[in-house]
Amino acid sequence: MDKKFYITTPIYYPSAKPHMGHAYSSIIADFFARFKRIDGFDVQFLTGTDEHGLKIQRSAEKQKINPLEFCNEISQTFRNLSETLNLTNTDFIRTTEDRHKKSVQHLWSQLEKNDDIYLSKYSGWYSVSDEAFYNDDEIEDIDGVKRSISSKSTVEWIEEESYFFRLSKWEKSLLDYYESHPNFIGPESRKNEVISFVKSGLKDLSVSRKSFSWGINVPNNKDHVIYVWLDALTNYISALNYPDTNNQLFRNFWPASMHLIGKDILRFHAVYWPAFLLAAKIDLPLRVYGHGWILSGDEKMSKSKGNILDPIEIINEYGLDPLRYYLIKEVSFGNDGNISQERLEDCINSDLANNFGNLCQRVTAFAIKNCSGKIPEKIKFEKDDLIILNKFKDNLENIRSKIDKQNLNFYIDYIVNSLFEANKYFNDQEPWKKKDDIIRLNTIVFTALEIIRKISFLLYPIIPGSVLKALKIFNLNENDIKLDDISENEFLIKGNNINKIDILFKKIEKNND
Ligand code: MSP
Repeated sequence: MDKKFYITTPIYYPSAKPHMGHAYSSIIADFFARFKRIDGFDVQFLTGTDEHGLKIQRSAEKQKINPLEFCNEISQTFRNLSETLNLTNTDFIRTTEDRHKKSVQHLWSQLEKNDDIYLSKYSGWYSVSDEAFYNDDEIEDIDGVKRSISSKSTVEWIEEESYFFRLSKWEKSLLDYYESHPNFIGPESRKNEVISFVKSGLKDLSVSRKSFSWGINVPNNKDHVIYVWLDALTNYISALNYPDTNNQLFRNFWPASMHLIGKDILRFHAVYWPAFLLAAKIDLPLRVYGHGWILSGDEKMSKSKGNILDPIEIINEYGLDPLRYYLIKEVSFGNDGNISQERLEDCINSDLANNFGNLCQRVTAFAIKNCSGKIPEKIKFEKDDLIILNKFKDNLENIRSKIDKQNLNFYIDYIVNSLFEANKYFNDQEPWKKKDDIIRLNTIVFTALEIIRKISFLLYPIIPGSVLKALKIFNLNENDIKLDDISENEFLIKGNNINKIDILFKKIEKNND
């Protein structure tokens, strides 16, 4: 079996500092990277910043600094955010790096060589904020201002000489590809949107700009810079050293297992990118998944609306793992979700502090007191023990296949139920009443400790920092976490020490006025 997994986040525009939407894409990608790693995959996980184009040039001009200096500073805040979010990305790419520029220019030359690029003149609507072209029927007039209907960003009319990519030529190949690769686009509802967009007819795409200079030059024509989306999308292969397709990174990890993106940029990833790749005779990624938006007061966050939620502020107040847990649990994956402080506090109090934290504390305290602080001997499992222990083994394949379909809702529900059952098991078995039956008492404690271990392994991709603290109970570390071992009922070794750990999650005092 080929156990390689390559996941990417969108590369972020460093036009302003990171917000919750960016944090969301990154945290979800990190969830998949960690899950696959504990499942024995060699994982490549890429994130980075998308630094060219008019949007960045104008943001830099506003601050009266040159675009590269501007990008250096904000790109660093995204790099810092990756650390704050405890991401396990294996690379961070900036489109201003030489390795990337070389790749983009090579890809351009391939497209040109294959007669997929020609010079003409563009006239039409352009949104600098989206860095996207729009047709007349995609524009509306609100109080005399022309806006894109889908993103609501303002558009301006441009007319200039431009190179075009023969997108129209690839219409049929794309439709055939969607049909023969039904998993290429997720979720299903978005796939249908893409297919109807392509079926409605593709026009050739303007892929260069002449009226500004902040970008990668078109090879052999310095008057033009390459369209920022053609530039940006290439990051997924430039980070694997394209055009050297024989190097180990490219051979191991291309085609990507999944491009995780927000739904607003699905067209670029599910139409333009595969068309460029088809034209350049490069394999297509296996999956493109468009997640929903984090809404702030029922609206998508944006600088212009002034409703930006700052992930750092939330992390400073509540901690990172509660935020990771909340975003994965409460934003039904694939759909939009509102951030609510109240629900975040509920998650911390009920799921994390009561159900997980408290289970760890109670069981270890009991074991330290009644089993001399050592993993007790399990003599004989009874039916009740085996029912709860074996569920993990029985569900392992199901969990894997649900994750391969990005069914995060199943995964989190499975964990929440397991926590509920674990607490119920410990209560119902009443080991404190079994002090005369040491064999039974030991077996109950052993079973409860095994369940904590199994649930901790499953929680690791969601709340890695807290799980590593919890696993100190057993002196286990990150390398010991293997998904396969949730099937194992006798993983813990009799006689090993059980360590007392600090409180994992502090409850939030709620003001119920
Ligand atoms: N630079 C492009 C992506 C190029 S990928 C080759 C871009 N950058 S972005 O910074 O504007 O957005 C990056 C990602 O953040 C997108 O996937 C976008 O959907 C996501 N989010 C931005 N706002 C969001 C929310 N409010 N909620 C969730 N994600 C959203 O687009």
